Amino acid sequence: MAKGNVSLSVVRRLPRYHRFLKDLLNAGTVRISSGDLSAKMGLTASQIRQDLNCFGGFGQQGYGYNVKDLYEEISKILGLGKHRKAILLGAGNLGRAIVLHMDFSSRGFELVGIFDSNPELVGLKVGSLAVQDSAGLEDFCRQHHPDVAILCIPKEAAKSTAAVLVRYGIRGFWNFSHYDLALDYDGVAVENVHLGDSLSTLCFRINELEKAEKE
Ligand code: NAI
Repeated sequence: MAKGNVSLSVVRRLPRYHRFLKDLLNAGTVRISSGDLSAKMGLTASQIRQDLNCFGGFGQQGYGYNVKDLYEEISKILGLGKHRKAILLGAGNLGRAIVLHMDFSSRGFELVGIFDSNPELVGLKVGSLAVQDSAGLEDFCRQHHPDVAILCIPKEAAKSTAAVLVRYGIRGFWNFSHYDLALDYDGVAVENVHLGDSLSTLCFRINELEKAEKE
């Protein structure tokens, strides 16, 4: 388990380890050397060792890592077995795509409700759930106690909606709206997701490559 305060940058790398290990497991790989794992992941072996040492360390000198054991340990560290309840707000283009394409259960969540403020969308089936009127959110939260809200609503609505949801007991936000929710609330976790940031980073990196080629 975690030794003291593990930095968020280490935690952010864990899902990637988890994903690579799952692929290895699916391919029938029983063990992998730290050198092979690092080459696959584009990290140094010492970075992997340092990351995993934050949780007690797992590999064995001369053996490497047992893929299944490490996969299961990382699942445990991430708490993926808990299946926390999640609701999604904003059943527009993005919200519907997330409902239809995200495998919530393998990531520790169960999607239990979809809400939208547009009455025309109420009743629309998205996957196995029907969109509900966001006017019913409070009652729903009181009854089902969701932990997490996925925000796929416009920027203008994000801050006030988050404040209301915290009052309803929401402990975590997966926030896609283009408003960066700050950690204004004690005991509430926020993950702001901006696909555009990743694209801008790609832009920078390509520009840098071109510059280097010209030098
Ligand atoms: P959309 O207009 O198709 O859907 C937004 C939905 O939210 C609508 O159905 C609307 O009725 C609903 N809504 C508005 N206010 C609400 C409230 N207070 N409670 C519940 N529902 C509410 O928009 P789209 O394309 O699905 O995008 C949603 C948001 O995500 C936009 O703000 C967009 O800018 C953002 N976005 C973010 C991305 C990212 O990487 N973070 C990528 C793409 C879009």
